[in-house]
This record gives sequence, C-alpha cells and structure tokens, in this order.
Amino acid sequence: MKKLEVFGANKLRGQIKISGSKNASLPILAATLLSNKKVFLTNLPKVNDIETMLLVLKSLGSFVKRYKDQLIIDNYNQKKKFASYNLVKTMRAGILVLGPLLAKLGEAKVSLPGGCAIGTRPIDIHLKALSKLGVKYKIIQGYVYAKAPNGLVGAKIKFSKISVGATENLIIAACFAKGITILSNCAIEPEICDLVNFLKKMGCNLKWISKRSIKIQGVEKTNEVTYNVMADRIEAGTYLIAGALTGGNLKIKGIEPKIIKTEIKILKKIGVKIKEKKNEINILETKKIKNINIKTAPYPGFPTDLQAQIMVLLCKANKKSFIKEEIFENRFMHVAELNRMGAKISIKGNKAIVEGKIKFAAAELMATDLRASVSLILAALSANGKSVINRIYHLDRGYENIEKKLKKVGANIRRVN
Ligand code: EPZ
Repeated sequence: MKKLEVFGANKLRGQIKISGSKNASLPILAATLLSNKKVFLTNLPKVNDIETMLLVLKSLGSFVKRYKDQLIIDNYNQKKKFASYNLVKTMRAGILVLGPLLAKLGEAKVSLPGGCAIGTRPIDIHLKALSKLGVKYKIIQGYVYAKAPNGLVGAKIKFSKISVGATENLIIAACFAKGITILSNCAIEPEICDLVNFLKKMGCNLKWISKRSIKIQGVEKTNEVTYNVMADRIEAGTYLIAGALTGGNLKIKGIEPKIIKTEIKILKKIGVKIKEKKNEINILETKKIKNINIKTAPYPGFPTDLQAQIMVLLCKANKKSFIKEEIFENRFMHVAELNRMGAKISIKGNKAIVEGKIKFAAAELMATDLRASVSLILAALSANGKSVINRIYHLDRGYENIEKKLKKVGANIRRVN
C-alpha cells in the first residue's frame, strides 16, 4: 500500500500551476453521452476519479482516445444503458450518467452510489426531479432501473435542497427534454457554470434567468465541440492554505481570483497576506493567524471541500476558532488524526472547536477521504520531523502530482511503498 513521507517543517517558496477541475470535468464527461458527435476536451486533471469516469463511459460503449493533451470522446455507437456497481461505488459522481442516458436512450440501469466516509450520499433529490421530467424508476438490489417511456418532457422543477449533483444531472437531462424546463434553487458552483458553458458550446439551449434558476429549451441534435475545462478552485485553495501555514511565499498560477473570492476574503480576514493578479494569486509571508468562526455553505459560501484544510491553518491561530460543517454529516474524519499530531480539536454535533497556538508534531497517519488526506499533508508540512501518511489512494482521486508540485516549492516529501 503506497504512502507518503513528509519531512517538515519547510517554508514553501515558488510557483505552483493549478490543474483542471476534477469537479467540473466529471459532469462534463458525463454530458458527452448526450452527443453523437466528437468531443475534444483539454485540461482534464490526471487524477483517478477522471480515469474511473472514463472507465464508466467505456463500459457504456463510448470511444475514448487521448491525443497529446487532448481527450477525444465519440459516442456515435454508444448504446449501452448499464453502469455497474464496481465502478460507481468508487466514485459517486458515476451517478451523473443517469441523466444523459435517460435523455438520449430513454432508459438506464445505474448503481446507487453508496455512501462514503463523509456521508450517506443519497440521490433522492436527483430521482424526484427526474420523475418530474417523466422518468419512471424502481430501486432493485442497489440499482436504479429508470425509463422514460415517452421520452423526457420539460417541466418546472424546484429542488427541495441545493445539490450540486442533482443540479448537474437535471441540467444535462433537460437539454434533450421536449419543450422548456425551468430548474430553480439550483447549486451555482463555478463547476456548474463550466458545465453549462460546455453544453451551450455543444449546441444545447440554456439560459440563467435568476441567481439560482436556469431555463433549458430541449434540442434534438448537437455539434462537434472542443472545450477547455476550468481550473480547480479547491486545489488552488489548498495550496493557498499551504503557503499561509508554512509562512512561505507562494505564487499560485492558472486560477482566476474571482472564483475563490470567498476563500480569499476569509484568508485575508485571518491575517493571510494575499496579492491577487490576473490568473494568479500570491501568498506572501504570513506571520500571525487570527482566529475566526466559519461555516461551510453552498457556493458562494465557504466550500465544504476546504473545511479540513482551513482547520489545519486555524490550529495556528492566536485563539480558539469554531467551524460548522453544514453540508455533510460526517466530514470531521481528519480531526482524530490531527489531534494525534498535537492539535486540540473537539467536536460538538456538526461544530468543531479548534484551539489555537498549536505546534504540530510529526506522526504516522491514516487518510480517510480525499480532502482529509490533504489536510494531513498540510499539518505534516508544518510539523518538525518525519510524518507518514497511509492510504493515499484517497489523495490520488483528486490531486494531480501533489508531491511533485510541493517538492518544486521546497517541500521534503516522497511517495514510498
Ligand atoms: C459535489 O458532491 C462534489 N463532488 C463534492 O466534492 C462537494 O463536497 C459537494 O458537491 C458539495 O459542494 C463532485 O462534484 C464530484 P451535493 P455532491 O449533492 O454532488 C445531500 C470532493 O471532495 N443530498 O451538493 O454529491 C448530500 O447528502 C467532493 O471533491 C441529498 O440529501 O454533493 C449532502 O449532504 C466531496 N440528496 C448535500 O445534499 C440528494 O439527492 C450536498 O450534496 C443529493 C444530495
């Protein structure tokens, strides 16, 4: 089982290039199922979740080819309707093929995603909304058997709760529904805007009509499309925090500051020195971190995917901080491991109380989920001595070349068997 050895504590200095967004790439890859024309994608991150999604597409009959830095997908002969458990269980975003398969083929059998470390990950909101487009479904032995006997028919749908995945599934499905669909109470993460831009370029007819509502006019055909996926704002936020935590001086390239303005505002509020430029963010040497009370929220709120990372930084604050996790029911798996490194974090329900003035001690650690594993690396970077992080397959799902990128800016980190 591969693990990472991290020898801290080093100040990080230099430049890190941000990769393409995993959470924009996954719905865009699923949306290619709508089209019978070639799709050319660039800037997909080299991470395991993308490879898993490509395996799902291939299992459905998609033709997938890499040519230099481009991925070519051709669904001309894609006719299969079955996405199996063994693929969807490792990557819950596999459920995003449900909408496009129903839209194009009128039928789908897709494994329920199943839970993960951070929560049960239900799909009731997806299914309830799809049934409003005329989908009939049954759940049998862990699979969704869904059919749209008369094709999808446009409808007015208000999501009962803001859900990134449900918004993505329905946006994609509605592109081929007969007539007009209005989706309201949508998630509006930048990754969803990237999906909408991709669908428009592919010839679909979508228009945001208010902050959280979108109008979709069904179409019957699409065109060949070339698309460059947006940069990964969570990766960028992670490295901003790494720079602040190590008192370093980092230049994060390839990210527009405006898509992480909430994160930048909060980092500045706790004393992190940040300079924003076009397509670049500089973290300057930060000496003092102030405490803060934050809660995670749907975009444009503070992202749950950066909750573990900012918790590590707040361990360095002058006083106690409070972090409320409002999105997932079990997203404090990193706390026990951080406490083993000398942190003093207690949990009350969905609130973490984070003591400040902590000096992390190196330790042998266990990763539990994607963002928890990167928070352990951050703590190890600022701890004196050698830390070992096990089960880094979690990390490889969503961070491209993390040890290479960190080594380039002075971290002493290596992957060992
Ligand atoms: C997406 O997950 C992201 N994944 C997650 O990133 C991210 O944490 C999450 O959105 C919130 O921003 C991808 O984009 C691939 P949700 P998703 O539907 O779509 C509940 C990472 O680290 N819910 O917005 O699954 C759900 O249980 C990953 O990159 C229902 O109750 O998130 C959760 O509590 C982790 N019923 C809340 O809503 C449903 O039908 C938000 O979930 C759907 C969701």
